[in-house]
Amino acid sequence: MSRHLSGIQPSGLPHLGNYFGAIAQHVEVSKTADPAQRDALFFIADLHALTSLHDRVALEENVRSIAATYLALGLDVERAVFFRQSDIPEVTELMWLLMTVTGMGLLERAHSYKDKTARGLHPNVGLFTYPILMAADIVIYDADVVPVGHDQIQHVEMAQDMVTHFNTAFTGEYLRRPEWKLSKTPKVPGKDGAKMSKSYGNDIWIFEEGKALKKSVNGIVTDSRAPEEPKDPDGINAYAILELFLDEAARADWRTRIAKGGVGYGHLKGAIIEQMDARFGGARGAYTELMKSASGQRRLEDALARGASLARPLAKATLARCFDAVGMGNAATRLRRG
Ligand code: ADP
Ligand code: TRP
Repeated sequence: MSRHLSGIQPSGLPHLGNYFGAIAQHVEVSKTADPAQRDALFFIADLHALTSLHDRVALEENVRSIAATYLALGLDVERAVFFRQSDIPEVTELMWLLMTVTGMGLLERAHSYKDKTARGLHPNVGLFTYPILMAADIVIYDADVVPVGHDQIQHVEMAQDMVTHFNTAFTGEYLRRPEWKLSKTPKVPGKDGAKMSKSYGNDIWIFEEGKALKKSVNGIVTDSRAPEEPKDPDGINAYAILELFLDEAARADWRTRIAKGGVGYGHLKGAIIEQMDARFGGARGAYTELMKSASGQRRLEDALARGASLARPLAKATLARCFDAVGMGNAATRLRRG
């Protein structure tokens, strides 16, 4: 298997978009990864989260929550390397080297940055340079494949550009070019129909249950059309969310019934709740145990510490290679001495 790598920001609790766009494929990849080749690496992008979250209690809680989510959903941490971005300081050093080969124009074209600022977020320099940190995350481990949701394609393409610029500027094949890879459901809409995102407040947490789940699902925006009215399934946001859970046969069945008339928004929301209970119900207990018990917390810390000890030598080797490339053999020697 080629080397797969991806990250997720601990800027809130993991939602259906994260699950269907990214986490589900990460868990799948981990099951067949070869630990000796380090061919699956997944990490919690806590440095990235600082671009939007300045609250130490929330950040610590979110990091734990993302880690517990991956473990509860069955990430194989014996096969995949699972770690925290900030445990690998070399990544911010490589970021600096990449910054010096990246044109301002490349970053100015970033959709994600433009969307966030358009939504009223006051950008800090970290948010603007975020794709360079992400490129460093990817190339420092010589990743081949980056499994992500649709919104991250442009960021991986920017990483490809930075690889080309670095290798051209210093004449050599120092950095490997990554490719992005989408899941079958790479674009999950939020409750308001826009991209589901922690930062847009339109998300549904995957482990929500009971009354809170009902309340969250009820928040999916609908219109006032009556149940009897025939509707185009493609124009219904609640159906788009339900469809994520369905196989081909169930999709065809729901589509026919919606188009015929007789399916109300209440039906669709009830079906989403049933699907969430069926899909995530079994993992909720494991999640709570990991979050709340002392032994659970220890398991999380141990898994992340082990992951960092496996990831770090890879990062040091790449950074040393890059320091040599730019003419800083001193820094390369420092790294190789450990
Ligand atoms: P958020 O936008 O909620 O902050 P992240 O940026 O941390 O989420 O994304 C983590 C992973 O989840 C990325 O691979 C991203 O592409 C994927 N992802 C996030 N939102 C969605 C979505 N609405 N649909 C599909 N994938 C998504
Ligand atoms: N920017 C990604 C997101 O918001 C998270 C991330 C950081 C990432 N570094 C990465 C994803 C490296 C893939 C590879 O979703």
